[in-house]
Amino acid sequence: MAEANVQACIFIWIITMATCQKIPVAHVTCIFSMDCVLPCHFKPAGDEVIQWYRQKVLIHSFCNGSDILEQQDENYRGRTSLFQGQLARGNASLLLQHSDIQDKGRYRCHVQTALGHHESDIITKVEAPIRTMKMTSPSGYKAITCSSQDIYPAPQLLWSTDPPAPSGAIKPATRKIANVQGLYSVESMQKRMGNLSDFTYICSLNSYYGTQTWIASLREREIFSVSGKGLTLPCLVPMKLLNFTLTWTLTSAKKSEVILTFHSLTRQISNQWKSQARVDPDQVLSGNGSLWLQNLENTQTGTYSCTFSAFQIQHLVHNHVRLISAQTVTEGGNQSNLWIIAVVIAALALFITGMIAWANRKDDRSQPRRTTEDATEIQHMRTSMAD
Ligand SMILES: *[C@@H]1O[C@H](CO)[C@@H](O)[C@H](O)[C@H]1NC(C)=O
Ligand SMILES: *[C@@H]1O[C@H](CO)[C@@H](O)[C@H](O)[C@H]1NC(C)=O
Ligand SMILES: *[C@@H]1O[C@H](CO)[C@@H](O)[C@H](O)[C@H]1NC(C)=O
Ligand SMILES: *[C@@H]1O[C@H](CO)[C@@H](O)[C@H](O)[C@H]1NC(C)=O
Ligand SMILES: *[C@@H]1O[C@H](CO)[C@@H](O)[C@H](O)[C@H]1NC(C)=O
Repeated sequence: MAEANVQACIFIWIITMATCQKIPVAHVTCIFSMDCVLPCHFKPAGDEVIQWYRQKVLIHSFCNGSDILEQQDENYRGRTSLFQGQLARGNASLLLQHSDIQDKGRYRCHVQTALGHHESDIITKVEAPIRTMKMTSPSGYKAITCSSQDIYPAPQLLWSTDPPAPSGAIKPATRKIANVQGLYSVESMQKRMGNLSDFTYICSLNSYYGTQTWIASLREREIFSVSGKGLTLPCLVPMKLLNFTLTWTLTSAKKSEVILTFHSLTRQISNQWKSQARVDPDQVLSGNGSLWLQNLENTQTGTYSCTFSAFQIQHLVHNHVRLISAQTVTEGGNQSNLWIIAVVIAALALFITGMIAWANRKDDRSQPRRTTEDATEIQHMRTSMAD
């Protein structure tokens, strides 16, 4: 019975394929790993025979009220279905589940009804959108990397700086590598120009079809401060943002903690450090997220990171805070000077103890000959010094 159905359906299709006419074309973009609907509409008249093809390969057919899948292409097994409740309304759209990169291409929908037939083509793209983006500065601060994963087709990656770098100075090394599924990972490395804090490095990632633009930026600086004093940690965004979250964190060798967060829409601040840390909401809304810290302690050194995050945008500023003790500052020295002082003092101490030991040995030998006269003379000197 089923065999007979298939025969009848194929026969109908061969007849209709022979008649030539202009075929409408629709464009669809399927999202990688998601379900995708390929549209197809016809004038409903009952007794539909529906066939779906991808580049002349049968991927789904429906005849006499049920799916006929014996001749379906293997790559589509279990992934295709029609919305049967919609057929009476002339909707022969195909649901393609879990789309992958091989699904891109030209599809044809063919419908035969009691009244005639309909054909339409659907050109399908598959896109794996950008979902993450990361900027880092590997140890040594010599370069900045910008990276992302699992994107299709391969995106375009661009670097810029604030302030603008001299022309020709931006020469990144960019790698785009596809995995077994055909998805690209992108990694780009740009050498740091000038000193650590000279530039904000901006990386933008543009999807191939122009549907998305992601932007990330990174700025780093070193800040030297004195223990027990107040300190302002700068954080300025290179572009205006409307709907964003500001987060300040402290990362040290031991741990990472959130200091405060600020939401631009609600203007709500959640501050873990209470009165010890502060931002000015009006300044933050205009792109200045600078953090004011009261009484910086030794336990609070590390990297203070400021993140402005908005839709597909992230601006990151690392302030590497190093403490120098107040004592060192008043002596006007740094660590290496202290070392020299310590060595000199140790040498002096050694010399003095040596001298005392030598003097004692000499005293021991001369003791028997020491006269009371000498002793009174010393006594006299002591009293005169006391005067
Ligand atoms: C459709 O199925 C019915 C029974 O369900 C059968 O009588 C009829 O012959 C079938 N038509 C075709 C074209 O195969
Ligand atoms: C056809 O049916 C599907 C599934 O319900 C739906 O997503 C699609 O929008 C329908 N098309 C039209 C034009 O109604
Ligand atoms: C910046 O780097 C130059 C050498 O490239 C150096 O002479 C200068 O002192 C540095 N400035 C600061 C503020 O570190
Ligand atoms: C940023 O804001 C701080 C106060 O939060 C202020 O001291 C500083 O001057 C501001 N910087 C700029 C560039 O506006
Ligand atoms: C603000 O941004 C968040 C996160 O990107 C988003 O979920 C939210 O819908 C946005 N709100 C408005 C009003 O744009």
